[in-house]
Amino acid sequence: MSITPFQALACPLDGKPLSWSDSVWRCSDGHSFDIAKQGYVNLLPVQQKRSHDPGDSKAMVAARQRFLNAGYYQPIAEAVSHAVLGHAEVQKADRLPFSCLDAGCGEGYYLRQLADAATNAQPLSLMGLDISKWAVLAAAKQDAKQAPLSSWVVGSNAHLPVQTGTLDSVLCMFGFPVVSEFARVLKTGGVLLQVEAGPNHLRELREIIYPTLKAERVSETVVPDGFIHHGSERVSYSIALNGSEEIADLLAMTPHLYRTSSEGRDRAAALEVLVVTVDVRIVMYMRI
Ligand SMILES: C[S@@+](CC[C@H](N)C(=O)[O-])C[C@H]1O[C@@H](n2cnc3c(N)ncnc32)[C@H](O)[C@@H]1O
Ligand SMILES: [Zn+2]
Repeated sequence: MSITPFQALACPLDGKPLSWSDSVWRCSDGHSFDIAKQGYVNLLPVQQKRSHDPGDSKAMVAARQRFLNAGYYQPIAEAVSHAVLGHAEVQKADRLPFSCLDAGCGEGYYLRQLADAATNAQPLSLMGLDISKWAVLAAAKQDAKQAPLSSWVVGSNAHLPVQTGTLDSVLCMFGFPVVSEFARVLKTGGVLLQVEAGPNHLRELREIIYPTLKAERVSETVVPDGFIHHGSERVSYSIALNGSEEIADLLAMTPHLYRTSSEGRDRAAALEVLVVTVDVRIVMYMRI
């Protein structure tokens, strides 16, 4: 793989391009943002924070990190990497770096997998952004074991600190899509990949924690403004979780942890083994 630094950051206060020198990002108006010693930069101004500690908690991030690093969602990562790198191949006959923002990157698993899947002939420029400082810290720490692969940023999808019309691709996985912002930062011909839960996702876990399951809504693909539909894929398979810790980690990284009752949580905590369906939809849109 060949990774080049991410160049398209913008000042979160005025949108001006940021340039990097002496471990600091600066805009032409003199706003400056230090790179923390752990290797990430905070581009989330207080006025864009809706709470003191927004996004996923430290415990949720740790649960997701253990679960993803155990490989349970690797088929999803492979399908996403394949789609992104396939598009990069078509798009980048010129071999210029192909840029990818993971918007709501969590602890960075999917960008690490993307970097691993890329060949030397496909230079990438990667940025992971999340509103949770715990997520970005965990991503930067895991990345620091190698030469840093990505730029890690604390920020919000609602006001991406990224220059307009600069990106080749944006990922939004199980996250909080703000499609108007994704449209703003993508180049014409760039792609947005959204990954969301399908109707059978974690069905066996949901059957245990909820008294009844709501009938599935048949969700139509609504193509967001400024995009055309560029393909969809379904990834579906079963996983077997052994032991209450792994089952607790899966529950802790989903919104079900807060939606279920304490009885539902107790029933999940009593499980020692769980075979559960993974069922996700990957939808790709192209910016026009
Ligand atoms: C369900 S997790 C998914 C994380 C990662 N995409 C993954 O699949 O492993 C959702 C993530 O979105 C982040 N998040 C929530 N609101 C956000 C926002 N406005 N901007 C960016 N990230 C946000 C949370 O902190 C959390 O890390
Ligand atoms: Zn500025």
